[in-house]
Amino acid sequence: IYLGDEDLTQETRDLLSSLPSEKGWLVSQIYQFEGSWHTQGLVQGILNCQKNFKANDSDIILATTPKSGTTWLKALLFALIHRDKFPVSSKHPLLATNPHPLVPYLEADYRISPDVDFSELPSPRLMQTHLQHLSLPVSIKNSSCKIVYCCRNPKDMFVSLWHFGKKLTPQETADYPIEKSVEAFCQGKFIGGPFWDHVLEYWYESRKNPNKVLFVTYEELKKQTEVEVKRIADFIGCGFTAEKEVSEIVKLCSFESLSKLEVNRQGKLPNGIESNSYFRKGEIGGWRDTLSESLAEVIDRTTEEKFRGFRSRC
Ligand code: A3P
Repeated sequence: IYLGDEDLTQETRDLLSSLPSEKGWLVSQIYQFEGSWHTQGLVQGILNCQKNFKANDSDIILATTPKSGTTWLKALLFALIHRDKFPVSSKHPLLATNPHPLVPYLEADYRISPDVDFSELPSPRLMQTHLQHLSLPVSIKNSSCKIVYCCRNPKDMFVSLWHFGKKLTPQETADYPIEKSVEAFCQGKFIGGPFWDHVLEYWYESRKNPNKVLFVTYEELKKQTEVEVKRIADFIGCGFTAEKEVSEIVKLCSFESLSKLEVNRQGKLPNGIESNSYFRKGEIGGWRDTLSESLAEVIDRTTEEKFRGFRSRC
């Protein structure tokens, strides 16, 4: 996420100087680019990605807001797509590697270099992004590649990000008590925010073009995992024939299995983040132990305002 000034190109510096910026919750400075808030490093990554990423028709793109189930979907999609090469067994890559390094994160990989090469990825290529639909590289929108989008209840998403931030960036979050963080969240001023616009953009796209964008929720995935996994598999063109295969993948990728693995309990990922930071509780409604009723209401009110009228427009 972080990139020092010295790593920025002149083009990025010029752009940053023209963008609205704020001292952010979670990071020292965030910039508003194409309506969404990012660190300076990510702005550079987005520019490089928009200019240089060429999607293949067979690509599969996982899109999420942070803390909405990215790790889980990375694991599920990886296991689904590569199940012929890697059937569920004691040698499965997910037992030895955290899901994050197995699936490239587009705009983050483009931060340092405009020449990232994804050509070595096995086909179909699987990649992840937190970009809003508006900011996706044109070739993703114009090719026949598929987008799987996952969103989560905003209160659980906020609480997940709150704990993640406190663990990862204790200094930056020190002067952000939870009330101020909820305010920043509701104003959309955090990395990848605003949440609601992100969700609505993909929701509309999934309605307009259901063969291109599949809209999944963390909650449905949790409540009826096998049904949703089959829906995802059909959408990306690798439907199941054997029920046993579905349940094996679901079990392999479950919170209970992944969070207990040594590789996800110890050590750091290539991005410097501790592997266990991506596995906290993995529950629906876990916000109750962190948010007071009044703060929960602030988020609910924002959701109502942002989503008001959207039914009539669908
Ligand atoms: P909590 O903080 O609520 O526990 P992301 O992967 O987008 O960063 O989201 C992280 C959230 O997903 C965390 O939520 C984490 O515990 C949860 N999570 C990670 N792996 C999961 C899995 N296999 N099944 C369900 N939830 C999972």
